[in-house]
Amino acid sequence: MTDCIVNSDLLRFSQFISSHMGLHFPEERWPDIQRGLRRAAPEFGFTDAEECIQWLMNSPLNKKQIEILASHLTIGETYFFREKPIFEALKARVLKELIQSRRETSRRLRIWCAACASGEEAYSIAILLSSLIPDMINWNITILATDINPHFLEKASQGLYKEWSFRNVPLDIKENNFSESKDNSYQIRADIKKMVRFSYLNLAEDTYPSLMNDTNAMDVILCKNVLMYFNQKSQMKVVQNLYNCLINKGWLIVSPCETSHILFSRFQTVNFSGTTFYKKVRRQPNPVPDTSAYSQSVSDSPPFVLESAARPESFPSADLMPVPVPEASSDSFAPQPESVPETGPAPFEEALSLYAQGRYPEVVDKLISSADSNSQISSLMARAYANQGKLADALNWSEKTVSADKLNPGAYYLQATILQEEGLIDEAMAALKKALYLDPDFVLAHFALGNLTRQQGKNRESERHFRNALLLTKKRDRAEVLPESEGVTAGRLSEIISRNI
Ligand SMILES: C[S@@+](CC[C@H](N)C(=O)[O-])C[C@H]1O[C@@H](n2cnc3c(N)ncnc32)[C@H](O)[C@@H]1O
Repeated sequence: MTDCIVNSDLLRFSQFISSHMGLHFPEERWPDIQRGLRRAAPEFGFTDAEECIQWLMNSPLNKKQIEILASHLTIGETYFFREKPIFEALKARVLKELIQSRRETSRRLRIWCAACASGEEAYSIAILLSSLIPDMINWNITILATDINPHFLEKASQGLYKEWSFRNVPLDIKENNFSESKDNSYQIRADIKKMVRFSYLNLAEDTYPSLMNDTNAMDVILCKNVLMYFNQKSQMKVVQNLYNCLINKGWLIVSPCETSHILFSRFQTVNFSGTTFYKKVRRQPNPVPDTSAYSQSVSDSPPFVLESAARPESFPSADLMPVPVPEASSDSFAPQPESVPETGPAPFEEALSLYAQGRYPEVVDKLISSADSNSQISSLMARAYANQGKLADALNWSEKTVSADKLNPGAYYLQATILQEEGLIDEAMAALKKALYLDPDFVLAHFALGNLTRQQGKNRESERHFRNALLLTKKRDRAEVLPESEGVTAGRLSEIISRNI
């Protein structure tokens, strides 16, 4: 095996990693790349790291290859309740207020740990919420935890930790939420474990926000200790996409060492003791004074312009998600205007463009008065509402979409996605079956039914749906983008299903 990779290759490879994974490897960290590559090379079938580099850079990377590289190039340092002031502010202010305001209304909370490593952060949130919400059973709580490194995700989903993960954690947290296991390990309580859903997501890809991978309409996003490893362009893109994943007044939390006026200029800066959070506050034409009790310094920076709309390239790993459904981008999620809508092309196209920029309330404002009977418009309305977390409105508009176009399988699929998010699984399954009745070759409907039936423990039925989906993907060209998938190719879906059955 070659011991030394030439500098020109390391430079090219670091740029390659930067564009595929967002990770920034300056020259001082090239030894880390060398070490990582030497370990990764055998997994790619090479004994020589130099040859492996050449091969990687000359072929398009698929998800599996990114996962292998990620498992050798990422740093998973983490522990429970890391960065205490963040958890204190969450407990005493942000979560407390959210819970108070939702208790009398939707009883719904959506939290995303984007770059969760081996799961300690996401489980810390689950522990915190279980202490703040005694009647958890009456709530619809989502804690999504994603990472690029499959080994970390595997460990996270086991929920088994060594003493080192509990450094700086009060003893009672461990005593109340873990049981001692063999080899001096601690197993997280089953009910806490069940609150968190782990899934693969590469932050450097434009696959979020999306109803399909459940990254839309978040109340709180923790994206801690990962942006600091990214190059500047990727940081900007990630922050833009995360902004679009939040509902209005939602919160983005980064590590105290990652705060930046420039990077988070579109957010309000909210200072708590020992930490700073970023709040998404949609600018109103006539600003309403903020009555919140927080000490806030509102950034006056101009609104940023999206470099590009979020576009999907990949698909989330199905293995760790109970109900994985294809991920999609916000923009391509919107129907394309094949025919001129009744309102004339301008407002609809304008709404599509606003949607692509994540400006969901403006999409609604634009279309609300004219959206009665056109299925393209009502479908866009449904998606715009869903991305703001307004599921009742989203469902209402998805029903209008179905009524306006009863023979459109895609309309039932959209309805199923929203029903699923509402937790109405039987209704979601009925809608998927209608989609399949209209189009028995609807790959994603088979796939979604496979996931839902698997979640219900109906393994034979689930396997049948997955096999149908697999057969249908194999009949297509690998590069063909699947209908309603917003960019997922037949080849990518086939890889995912093959790993799951
Ligand atoms: C230092 S850990 C942070 C863990 C946790 N958020 C915390 O603050 O303790 C950084 C994590 O970012 C993940 N990561 C690196 N690049 C990523 C990418 N492009 N997409 C998603 N996760 C990524 C790594 O796999 C690793 O688990």
